[in-house]
Amino acid sequence: MNYKAVIFDLDGVICTTDEYHYQAWKKMADGMNIYFDRTINNRLRGVSRMESLEIILEQYHGPALSEERKVELATQKNDLYRESLHQMSPADLSEEVKTTLDALRAAGLKLAIGSSSKNTPFILGQLGLGNYFDAVSDGNNITRSKPDPEVFLKAAEMLGLAPSDCLVVEDAISGAQAGHAGGFEVACVGDASQAGAGNYNLSAFGELKQIAIG
Ligand code: BG6
Ligand code: MG
Repeated sequence: MNYKAVIFDLDGVICTTDEYHYQAWKKMADGMNIYFDRTINNRLRGVSRMESLEIILEQYHGPALSEERKVELATQKNDLYRESLHQMSPADLSEEVKTTLDALRAAGLKLAIGSSSKNTPFILGQLGLGNYFDAVSDGNNITRSKPDPEVFLKAAEMLGLAPSDCLVVEDAISGAQAGHAGGFEVACVGDASQAGAGNYNLSAFGELKQIAIG
């Protein structure tokens, strides 16, 4: 085997919550007359909720907003986002993701989550993966968001492994940078793969079997 563990980002890797994030931020931004589009949305991948809000507010030109008001806006977005998450079920876990996870585990690899999202436990529950992973490091146990490596370093620590033993899987450029900064090898899917941000840039999730197991 090439690694002892695989640490997965959640949004955009295990599941496609990206569109729900976009729609919820869009509603919040429209309500405030703030310009927001998918190009700006791409900059929010891997970035924490409050830092995402700051990126959106670059297009806000009204009176200064208090910290309380900012928290209110982020909460408004999160409430809309959670409404969408309620529709998710185990059927939203793709067959390719499920069979790949099972194959990696059957080969003896430890599997973990490394996500910036505070909604991670809820999303995993919705997908029927509440007790599936050997370690879950997420937005609830970190103080610095990607591209800082903290979330992945905490996941490796929970597994009792060194970064060099773990492969990180990411769809966000900020996430790939976090992996590299922590001393991990990184396999990218989606946007980050197209940008060539990983040590491996995948065209299909299932390619992880060859990379991680050999
Ligand atoms: C990341 C997403 O996984 O989680 C970001 O890519 C999101 O877009 C971040 O902002 C924080 O998510 P949450 O669920 O804590 O608001
Ligand atoms: Mg992601």
